[in-house]
Amino acid sequence: MSTKGTSDAKDAENGASKGPSDAKRAESPHGTNALPEHVLEEIRELPARYPQHRSAVMPALDLAQEEVGYLTPEAMSEVAAALDLDPGYVEGVATFYTLFHLQPIGRHRFYVCTNLSCSLRGSSEIVEHVKKAIGVREAGEVSKDGLFSYEEVECLGACEYAPMMRLDHEYYYDLTPETITALVVERRAPLSAAAKASRRRTPVAAPDKAPPKKRVPRTKKIG
Ligand code: FES
Repeated sequence: MSTKGTSDAKDAENGASKGPSDAKRAESPHGTNALPEHVLEEIRELPARYPQHRSAVMPALDLAQEEVGYLTPEAMSEVAAALDLDPGYVEGVATFYTLFHLQPIGRHRFYVCTNLSCSLRGSSEIVEHVKKAIGVREAGEVSKDGLFSYEEVECLGACEYAPMMRLDHEYYYDLTPETITALVVERRAPLSAAAKASRRRTPVAAPDKAPPKKRVPRTKKIG
């Protein structure tokens, strides 16, 4: 995951308390800043999966962000309380990683890798196409319908499949402008409640565990 800065990194690693952030906080687009009980329950169950219980902070923040739309101070406090962690430590983690947001973002987020391998294989073209497809001019801007935003991120660990990106909780490989268009059209289509629930709770597929289903070979064996 990409990071935002070194001082926050130290705080996050040390679990140091930073106190409340000065960053401007906006109201949640979903009209609430509190996490519902079923999300808090999921968060409380997370530490059992890790050798050190505070390692659960990242998936917990991910759940909170997914629920509220972005990480409000209230959501971060509730994560801290649910995990029995210092609120300053939780905020330090939230402010360190670029995949966590303290301001409203689109309901669907494109995280386009623009690091070396992806850059050599046309990530700038992909970024331009994402901007055009969702109707924004710059990273972080939310589309008029509130559905989309995009960011450029550092290596997501799937260089072999460049250019690639993460959209919400899934990785997409060997990107083309057509792939982007299809994904935007799909996300704009109305979903059934079941499909929405299934999409929201799909865990992020690690690149090494989820290779592309239809991998197109780029080289041919000669001779
Ligand atoms: S450079 Fe894009 S995934 Fe590594």
